[in-house]
Amino acid sequence: MPIAISRRALLGTAAAAWAAAGTPRVQGATPKKRVARLSANENPYGPGPKARAAIQAAVAESCRYSIGSYTQLLDALARHENVARENIVLGAGSGELLHMLALEYVGRGELVTAWPTFNQITAYAEKLGASVKRVPLDAAMRHDLPAMAQATTGNTGLVYVCNPNNPTGTAVDGSRLHDFCRAVAQQALVVVDEAYLELVEPGATASMVDLARAGENVIVLRTFSKIHGLAGLRIGYGIGEANNMARLRRMQMTFPNTIGLEAALASLNDAEFLAQTKRALSIDRRRMVEVCRALGLDCTDSQGNFIFVNTGMPASQFRERMLAHSIEVGRNFEPYSNWCRVSVGTRAETDQFLAALPRVAAA
Ligand SMILES: Cc1ncc(COP(=O)(O)O)c(C=O)c1O
Repeated sequence: MPIAISRRALLGTAAAAWAAAGTPRVQGATPKKRVARLSANENPYGPGPKARAAIQAAVAESCRYSIGSYTQLLDALARHENVARENIVLGAGSGELLHMLALEYVGRGELVTAWPTFNQITAYAEKLGASVKRVPLDAAMRHDLPAMAQATTGNTGLVYVCNPNNPTGTAVDGSRLHDFCRAVAQQALVVVDEAYLELVEPGATASMVDLARAGENVIVLRTFSKIHGLAGLRIGYGIGEANNMARLRRMQMTFPNTIGLEAALASLNDAEFLAQTKRALSIDRRRMVEVCRALGLDCTDSQGNFIFVNTGMPASQFRERMLAHSIEVGRNFEPYSNWCRVSVGTRAETDQFLAALPRVAAA
C-alpha cells in the first residue's frame, strides 16, 4: 500500500532540488538496497485508508492547537471503551503513559515486572532511581503470575503486566490474569499493557478493561501504534479509575498532535482496514512459525505481530546474517541469548525473511 507521500515522491523532490542547485551527482554510485525492517513491531500496512484521508485533511488545521481534535478523540474513546471521559488519559504513544506511570507511582515503591518484557517503564523507573524486581518468565515463556504475586509486597508501587508479552509474544489465560489482577491490586497499582491484544487468536487471553471500568486499582494501556499502523504519529491511551487517571494526568509532559489525533479518530472506525490487517498479519505470523518449526527452530506461541524464535546461534550473529540478506531483525533479549524477535512485515517482506531463513540457519 503506498504511503500518502511516497518515498519515491520525496526522493524525486530531493533529486529535483539537488539538480536545480547544480550539486554534482556521484557517478556510478549504486543505490542502497532497501532493508526490510522486521525489528520494531510496526504494522507496515498502516495507516488505513480512513486515517490517510484524515491525515491529509488535518494538514490545514495544523496551525491550530489540537484541543478540538483531542476532545473529539477522548469522547470517541470513552464511547468505544464504555467509560466516562475522566477514565481515559491520552498520551504521545502508550510509551509516554509508561513514563508518566513511572514518575507517579514507582518513586513511592518498587516496580514488579516479568522478565524479559517490554522494558520502557523499567528503564525509565531505574533512571528515576526506583528499584525493580524482575520475575523470570515460566518454562513456557509466559508471565509467572504466582511468582509475580509473591514478589508483590507492601513496598510495591506498581506491577507491570504486558499481555501479550513483548518480546516472547506469549499471552496468559484470561481468567487467571483476572484473578491475579484482582488480588494484586489490593496492594499496588496493576498496569496491563495491551499493545498487541487486538492481534491475539480467539480465546488465547482476555482484556482486563472490565476491571479498569469497574474501578479496580488496574490501568489498561492501549496504543494506535500496532494494529492501527500509526506508530509514527504517537497516540496511545490508558483506561482506569478516575482518581488514578487524575494522578496520572498530572505527569503529562506533551500534548498529542492534531494529525495523530485525527488519524486515530478515523482509524478507530475503519473496521475493514483493522480486520484486513489482522487477517494478513495473523496468516503471516502462522507461516513464519510453521517454517521455523519445520526447520527445527523452536518458536513460542506468539500472539503479537512478531514471532520469537530460537535461532540456534547468538542473536547478534543471526542479526548480522539476516542483515546480509537486507533484513533487520530484533535485538537480544537476555537471558534468551539464542532467541530472536522478528516482526511480521508485509507479505513480500515475510517472503523475503522465509527465503533467507534456511540459508541463514544453515550457514
Ligand atoms: C508492549 C508495548 N507497549 C507499549 C509500546 C509503546 O508503543 P507506543 O509508545 O508506540 O504506543 C510498545 C512498542 O513497541 C510495546 O511493544
